[in-house]
Amino acid sequence: MTEAKRLAAEKAMSYVEDGMIVGVGTGSTVAYFIDALGRDPERIRGAVSSSEQSTERLRRHGIEVLDLNATGPLALYVDGADECDGAKRLIKGGGAALTREKIIAEASQRFVCIIDPSKEVDVLGRFPLPVEVVPMARSLVARKIVALTGAQPVWREGVVTDNGNLILDIHGLRITDPVALESAINQIPGVVSVGLFARRPADVVIVGGEPPTVR
Ligand code: 5RP
Repeated sequence: MTEAKRLAAEKAMSYVEDGMIVGVGTGSTVAYFIDALGRDPERIRGAVSSSEQSTERLRRHGIEVLDLNATGPLALYVDGADECDGAKRLIKGGGAALTREKIIAEASQRFVCIIDPSKEVDVLGRFPLPVEVVPMARSLVARKIVALTGAQPVWREGVVTDNGNLILDIHGLRITDPVALESAINQIPGVVSVGLFARRPADVVIVGGEPPTVR
């Protein structure tokens, strides 16, 4: 699937305009996108990054990393996903960067999601749904999630997010109403964010292949 990821990332370059500030996600697909940006780092004004990992890669290519507070709204955000349904709703957060990813998606006019074909699903939920939680609320949030969904939250032990928080992965979901579940999980005290991107889905999905599919 690595070639499909690279092809999706290359196709996303057609959405990049000269002088833009580009929102940049996290993960192995986005790494190809950063490398593509890095072929001509002067072409864009800079990037807003969703993780320390992407920041490091952007800087290695000589791309300036800017603070979202200073840039204001962004024209373009490019990011990967763990799952994508037919309505361009996503599960994200496999790389634990969901909160910053959600912030940048919300701040962006156009969200271009780059995936390989294995990420396409009819119903979201086969991939365990990540939830970022404040450390002291870990058990409380886990109990609330069991009561709410009947599914099984599992603590991603050893992982601390860039924001100093923890991740619970919810196994065994079948998400038939993603907007409602996103809202319900967001209401639990101690939840920082949930990796369901349904209220603000992607605008464009590029599925890597020869040639890539754009929808
Ligand atoms: C990170 C993410 C990634 O976009 C998602 O995990 C996909 O990663 P990859 O491109 O490596 O398959 O949400 O938090």
